Amino acid sequence: MTSQVRGVQLARLLGQWHALPGRRRSPDYAALAAAIRGLLADGRLPLGVRLPAERDLAEALRISRTTVTAAYRELRETGHLASRRGAGSWTMLPGTHRVASTGLWTPLDDRDMIDLGVAALSAPAQLVPAARAAAEDLPRYLGGAGYHPTGIIELREAVARGYTDRGLPTSPEQIMVTSGTQHALDLVLRLALSPGGGVLVESPTYPNALAALSARRARITTHGLAADGDGWDADLLLGSIRQTRPKLAYVIPEFHNPTGHLMATDLRERLVGAAHAAGTDLVVDESFVDLPLDGTPLPPPVATFDRHSRVISIGGMSKPYWGGLRIGWVRASAPQVQRLAAARVGVDMASPVLDQLVAVHLLAQGPSIVAARRVQLAAQRDALVKAMADRLPDWRVTVPRGGVTLWVELDGPISSALARAAEEVGVRLAPGPRFGLDGTLERFLRLPFTLPTADLVEAVGRLAAVRYDLDRTGRPQWREPSVIA
Ligand SMILES: Cc1ncc(COP(=O)(O)O)c(C=O)c1O
Repeated sequence: MTSQVRGVQLARLLGQWHALPGRRRSPDYAALAAAIRGLLADGRLPLGVRLPAERDLAEALRISRTTVTAAYRELRETGHLASRRGAGSWTMLPGTHRVASTGLWTPLDDRDMIDLGVAALSAPAQLVPAARAAAEDLPRYLGGAGYHPTGIIELREAVARGYTDRGLPTSPEQIMVTSGTQHALDLVLRLALSPGGGVLVESPTYPNALAALSARRARITTHGLAADGDGWDADLLLGSIRQTRPKLAYVIPEFHNPTGHLMATDLRERLVGAAHAAGTDLVVDESFVDLPLDGTPLPPPVATFDRHSRVISIGGMSKPYWGGLRIGWVRASAPQVQRLAAARVGVDMASPVLDQLVAVHLLAQGPSIVAARRVQLAAQRDALVKAMADRLPDWRVTVPRGGVTLWVELDGPISSALARAAEEVGVRLAPGPRFGLDGTLERFLRLPFTLPTADLVEAVGRLAAVRYDLDRTGRPQWREPSVIA
């Protein structure tokens, strides 16, 4: 499942490659090779894609073909490119760069640890009253066996109303309640993807989605999101769907985890069109849709543009309400929901009735709970951004207009080393490579702003000290080797 990048597309990604720092001292071919390595290391250029033919790239960059030939040769020598005569050249990483991208992240029971590995809020004050009210409601359900594979009707109605209010008319038959969004994703994958099927994901993306995909032995291709600007490159994203025709594409269009990007309306529409034409099912993870900050208006849901039941939306209570509730859902066509329910019976039968009733009570107060969450998150985000500007001014960040995470561009490929050192001083981090495949994204770090401001400021202070120590002990070796002659 190889996709190809055209000369003009790579030229756009390369941007000002000829004006990169240190450029004056290196020949053109070496600067070009370094810029392509940089794109690979940042996950902007996926692994396993075919690079443009030398002549095509030379024309797009308006440089000589010999320069491109020499740059490709250098990339082959450094293990970043594999070529076969007559067939082309594919991107890769040298073997030593591979890092496992999945794993269990649970906060340890260490009270001094500031846990920035988990991007989720503590429970709102309304949770306990909602739980009491749910217990009062329970007798209405006790006369039955309590198995509701698609969820209790009250909750399905409430969730369907939420979609309808967002401009996407939805009936309760189109909703299936799950035990969290992650469960929803797993069920959808069971239904829509045979083992070994092709899947396109964003890079970076949500690590537990990668875990669910590897459990299905999916063949994964990536679309590299830019840390800044619009995030998605429409041309490349749609091009890779057209070329690789994956069985499924998994996207997070609302305040993407980890970058915080919001997909524009136009791309939503074009994405659905491209998916339909390629025979690709779109799984749209709307985990953060309730959390626009600063009054940012939301584009229509991706499913608004769906005429052919190609879009399956998943979402849940974890981000706006509480992760411990374990309530999520799928929105799909009614027949798809029936098939999902049949698949679910082989897994967990149904979600707990009591928890679903708690969710109903929380959703009934949704607007006021969520409004308070947004105010809290915006204040915490601003405090984190300010603390970083004060203490770590070389780190760059595009302030997200929603969601719960900053995607920080570090001052070198040090993310894993930093995470290891930070653990020693009581800060748990999710380093960049966790959000990608094959050990890329070392120059990035996800910092959630879900903890109270005082913890965030304290964590940044500890990180600044650790960052300074990393330099003094000289542990990370990220500078280009230089020859002394
Ligand atoms: C994009 C995304 N999808 C799914 C999940 C999992 O959510 P849940 O707790 O509802 O299973 C998360 C949680 O971080 C997430 O960020």
